[in-house]
Amino acid sequence: MTEIASEMHAVIQLEDGYSGTAEGPIIDDAADYVKDATIAVPKPQGKQVLVKMIASSVNPSDLHFIKGEYGQPRRKNMPAGFEGCGTVVALGDEAPKSLLGQRVAFAVSLDGSGTWADYALTNGNTCVPLAPEVSDIDGAALIVNPLTAVAMVDLVVQHYEQQKGDAFVITAASSQLGKLMIGLGRDLGLKPIAVVRRADVADNLKNLGAEEVLVTSDADFTADMQGVMKSLKPRMMLDAVCDQISADIFTAMPAFTRWVGYGKLSPEAPKIEQMGQMIFMNKKIEGFWLVNWMRDTPYEEKVKVFTQVQTRFATKKWCTDVATKLPLKDIVTGLATATKRTDGKIIITY
Ligand SMILES: NC(=O)c1ccc[n+]([C@@H]2O[C@H](COP(=O)([O-])OP(=O)(O)OC[C@H]3O[C@@H](n4cnc5c(N)ncnc54)[C@H](OP(=O)(O)O)[C@@H]3O)[C@@H](O)[C@H]2O)c1
Repeated sequence: MTEIASEMHAVIQLEDGYSGTAEGPIIDDAADYVKDATIAVPKPQGKQVLVKMIASSVNPSDLHFIKGEYGQPRRKNMPAGFEGCGTVVALGDEAPKSLLGQRVAFAVSLDGSGTWADYALTNGNTCVPLAPEVSDIDGAALIVNPLTAVAMVDLVVQHYEQQKGDAFVITAASSQLGKLMIGLGRDLGLKPIAVVRRADVADNLKNLGAEEVLVTSDADFTADMQGVMKSLKPRMMLDAVCDQISADIFTAMPAFTRWVGYGKLSPEAPKIEQMGQMIFMNKKIEGFWLVNWMRDTPYEEKVKVFTQVQTRFATKKWCTDVATKLPLKDIVTGLATATKRTDGKIIITY
């Protein structure tokens, strides 16, 4: 039986609710939003489980959240951090008994307590027991991006059951999620078109399966982009940036295009010059949020997706690129600097 401490180190939020700002997932100093604290280890109730943390990943959503710019309100004095990997050490009286002692990947449920602490609390339903072949680091980033990748590439597959085509646009394509979607799209016989702002990532994205790489900082970007939209005719854009470049790509895409916004990496507000395209070309703008997908997707379908995700990591078709490892005790002082490296995930260690 694992001994559970009564108190723990945690990185807790300074504010409640929303900030009303929309600056994007950029921070100059984590101390503006969180602080170190020693707090009581939470006790699981009902379906909840207590997880002793092994590793967790920092996603843009964590940065939006601590800034009060995410889709759910901050909770003052509660640890931040949405996902991670750890060992289940205690159960609420309605939680599945089989989880006790398991190494799991999980996302913190709304009634839980965040992963930026020695222990986290979540609903047992969010826990995925990990196969031995899946590393702690892949386990730390197994939920948010991989499930989103499968769910959104499935939107592309579904769209092409109705419309002609096989190409789709991915913006911020060198993000961890972008890379997962490129590999998955290629494996499904689709043609991912990667849009990035740095030319140095192009070779890697081509190796992963990108049919084309468009670099927004290139002088010829607009002409190149319009050429690719004409030749490959993508009718889906999976967009994490949602800026004017995204709007210009959307305008250049053919009839029956769907622009699926799922992130707001740029604070810029895009302007749509040709609203008539919605009327005469049947184009659509919509959003995707994993929280809604988790709520609306039948349990059996979710189990299939969890299995697919874990198999892709276990067989090394997917892997989590790591930019920095940051000990929990250094989050407040080191997070802002760690976010400057964008070539992989920040992994928090405990
Ligand atoms: N809606 C949902 O349910 C959901 C779920 C998961 C993730 N997401 C979103 O998916 C996106 C990617 O997440 P991630 O964890 O994969 O990110 P990540 O690995 O941390 O990578 C962030 C990437 O964004 C790029 N980037 C940052 N600001 C940009 C800007 N203004 N214009 C263009 N590119 C920019 C960076 O490009 P450089 O390499 O050029 O610096 C970097 O490649 C985020 O917006 C996240 O919020 C949404």
